[in-house]
Amino acid sequence: MDKLRIHGPCRLSGTLRASGAKNASLPALAACLLTGDEVVLRHVPRVRDIVTMSKLLGHLGVERDEDPSGADGEPGALRLRANGHGSAPDEAPYDLVKTMRAGVLTLGPLLARRGHAKVSLPGGCAIGVRPVDQHLAGLEAMGAEVDIDHGYIHASSTHLPDRRLQGARFRFATRTVTGTENLLMAAVLARGTSVLENCAQEPEVGDLATLLRSMGAHIDDDGHGTLTVEGRRSLHGAEHRVIPDRIEAGTYLVGAVMTRGDVTVVGTRPADLAPLLEKLAEIGAEITTEDGKHNGSIRVRHDGDIGARDLVTAPHPGFPTDLQAQYMALMTQASGAATISETVFENRFQHVPELGRMGADIRIVRANYAQVHGPSRLSGATVMATDLRASACLVLAGLAADGETVIDRIYHLDRGYEKMESKLQRLGVRVERLSS
Ligand code: UD1
Repeated sequence: MDKLRIHGPCRLSGTLRASGAKNASLPALAACLLTGDEVVLRHVPRVRDIVTMSKLLGHLGVERDEDPSGADGEPGALRLRANGHGSAPDEAPYDLVKTMRAGVLTLGPLLARRGHAKVSLPGGCAIGVRPVDQHLAGLEAMGAEVDIDHGYIHASSTHLPDRRLQGARFRFATRTVTGTENLLMAAVLARGTSVLENCAQEPEVGDLATLLRSMGAHIDDDGHGTLTVEGRRSLHGAEHRVIPDRIEAGTYLVGAVMTRGDVTVVGTRPADLAPLLEKLAEIGAEITTEDGKHNGSIRVRHDGDIGARDLVTAPHPGFPTDLQAQYMALMTQASGAATISETVFENRFQHVPELGRMGADIRIVRANYAQVHGPSRLSGATVMATDLRASACLVLAGLAADGETVIDRIYHLDRGYEKMESKLQRLGVRVERLSS
């Protein structure tokens, strides 16, 4: 298993380009199951989760071509065509879904277009139980018959007129990102109108709606969590550029503050990062932004003391849970005590013992509530990555630590961060991948 070795301490300085958002690309890839026409996706990051999703789509009969990468190093466009209507398997097997829960995103589109889907239950993961009850309740509200058998979700609409789902009013009991995306993809081909309430409002959900609209879907977003969808008989092909990855950009910007550095991320959308940027400004960082739909920029600089500020994660527009671990790494370098409340997932403090091994002073007061006392002098150590964002937090700690930090099991990082070593190197970090 590959490892990452960082020689700290270092100061991040320079400019980097944001990759496309992994969490916007995954539903966009699944959406190609909704039409037999070609869907062209640009700016899809080449990370492991995308490779896994592509494999899953291949299994479901989707043909895939890839354009050569651009001169600026941007990956080439993906051309996808779901040819297999009627004959391709409609089963998302356990082997592919277990490593990447987003495989469940094939459920809505498969059911909507083919009238049947068999998708492995994703099961638990390092950060919590992560049920899919809301995905299933929503599909049932649209008339689907849903069964769970031998670890698989079986969903069918073959008993309905024309095998089409029936538009419905559904209120999510909890805000779920992939749940909203799944129901949206089901509703666009349903008969009649669906009103989805208490939807997740993450930018990645908005990006999926943009893609679906360019495929011919009718979706109205009231901006307060209600999506009204008029179902269409069929959708057509489209070209779409996925939004920049706000979590990736946020990780490097946190690194800039933590190492008293100066980092500019270009090709990003500052508005998507507002909750983080507000926090970094409170801490004392100097922030400059230039707006742009896909090509804005954010510069974050910091010098001197880092202020300790409490954090509570929440669904968008709150502070993203996917940046909580990185923020905790930052607070180990702050002057004073900061509390961190994780409200989205029940088990997302797995980085705490590893940070402790590097010298951080963090107490888990109760489940989902931790206190960080800083500033700590971190020292390099061999640490173990447990999930994607926890791994990013250990990289940041390694940047601030004295000496060598070796992060084991970086396949977690490879799931979601494109070209992380070369991006860090460009910012002045001495880092290398140790392959085994
Ligand atoms: C997505 C993101 C992930 C991010 C998370 C929260 C993708 C591929 N992944 O994950 O990076 O951390 O949003 O922003 O986009 N829940 C239920 N019932 C359900 C569904 C969810 O109780 O049917 C709960 C979950 O257990 C969790 C909360 O809702 O406590 C939010 O989870 P959800 O938004 O669904 O996360 P994902 O979509 O899996």
